[in-house]
Amino acid sequence: MTTEAAPAATKKHFIHTFGCQMNESDSARMAEILAREGYEATPTPDDADLILLNTCAIREKAEAKVLSALGRYRLIRNQRGTRLGVTGCVAQQEKEKLLQRVPYLDFVLGPDQIANLPGVLEKVGAGGRLAETGWMDSEEYVFPRADPESHRGQVSAFVTVMKGCDNVCSFCVVPHTRGREVSRHFTDVVAEIAGLVGVGVREVTLIGQNVNSYAGGCTFAELVRRVAAVPGLERIRFTTSHPHDLTPELMAAFAEVPQLMPHFHLPVQSGSNTVLERMRRKYTWEEYFAKVERLRALVPDLALTSDIIVGFPGETEADFELTMELIERVRYDNLYSFIYSARPHTSAIRHEEAWGLVPYETAVARLERLQKRQREITIEVNRRLVGRDVEVLVEGASRNDATKRMGRTRYNQVVNFTGAAPAGAFATVRIATASVAALGGEEMSHLPPPIVAPPPPAARAKTLLPIVSQSPHGASCD
Ligand code: 5AD
Ligand code: SF4
Repeated sequence: MTTEAAPAATKKHFIHTFGCQMNESDSARMAEILAREGYEATPTPDDADLILLNTCAIREKAEAKVLSALGRYRLIRNQRGTRLGVTGCVAQQEKEKLLQRVPYLDFVLGPDQIANLPGVLEKVGAGGRLAETGWMDSEEYVFPRADPESHRGQVSAFVTVMKGCDNVCSFCVVPHTRGREVSRHFTDVVAEIAGLVGVGVREVTLIGQNVNSYAGGCTFAELVRRVAAVPGLERIRFTTSHPHDLTPELMAAFAEVPQLMPHFHLPVQSGSNTVLERMRRKYTWEEYFAKVERLRALVPDLALTSDIIVGFPGETEADFELTMELIERVRYDNLYSFIYSARPHTSAIRHEEAWGLVPYETAVARLERLQKRQREITIEVNRRLVGRDVEVLVEGASRNDATKRMGRTRYNQVVNFTGAAPAGAFATVRIATASVAALGGEEMSHLPPPIVAPPPPAARAKTLLPIVSQSPHGASCD
């Protein structure tokens, strides 16, 4: 007699994830649902019975990548009869149109429909082709709870605290692909995190398109405090925040909650008030900068990162200079910068002609100048740690050199170091080198992670995680 909760895996799935942490988290939930349906993850699409493309629509390039990946998977489908589904933001944006455009696609599934995956697969198995892209009303929506067992061995995990966005930034497709804001009740968030800590997770990143407007039974700052009270949880991060909705209470949490790490991703988008107004960001650069100064007064060593769009319609050379001035003023630890990309359903696309399109070459030149200057600043910031001993939460082997270990500082910098600290340990690392991408050093000592209880006999360990093709930054604003 077997006590297993899920059927023995007979089928294989491969999930190709594009875009932000929200998509990564949705992919993890889909993998868990599929495990209950008798699927296991395979590291290669070649032997998969089901391939899911969990897509991103934030910029045209992201969308183009999805279509080219689909073309590659078509061959596997032709050879093996593999089922092919598109999920995520492109699915929500294109709906049935995608089925018409891609004749070999079996189904399209919007982000709100993840729980319906088994039903959709059943219909597809019976020969159907379908698009399930309906929204759920906020009262009906149930956030899928992460299965702690699928996180066993992981040091850090994303935890969804809200979905959707009620802002109306004129360049952004997210309100159209992810819908209105819905917050997850704090008791559910805390219970999920307690489960994750029980299998060895030591750090969580609370994710949502705009966590600052969280309303799941308490304020976001209160949620952070409740999460900090989970015994055994060492580090908390969150992303993403809209500067307009950033409250004094949340700023204070950085100083008051020891588990909240001193790193804040606060997308500014532009340093020009004219551009900010056209972007409908609801703040001036002066208001933004005042919040930065207040944060730094509270937490002097706070690491700040941001997103910037260059080449927004109507952006003049003088507007761009104001962005350059702002990055000198703030001196971000790192920046994620993009060329404006026209998106369907956004309000900016309707005003492009009137405001004036920025020639692509001009936008590229601006992006290059911005990124070059930011690289110089990032390296100066990183070099300040050379010679110092820093606390690193170890995640495992270094990606580029298996003889080294890899972890992150409190400020979220990657550190590759020589040493023996196991995943989950806190290592003290003496920093010897600094580049734009990472710090390097040598372990001085480490505190091993606590011993975690073994899995219950009924639990199915799922060690293969979905792959991520691009996860460009710490922001989940896409
Ligand atoms: N074009 C370029 N960049 C964009 N972003 C969002 N929408 C667009 C767009 N249409 C950027 C913003 C956001 C980040 C996640 O992606 O900077 O903060
Ligand atoms: Fe919402 Fe962020 Fe998009 Fe603005 S940029 S609409 S805050 S998801």
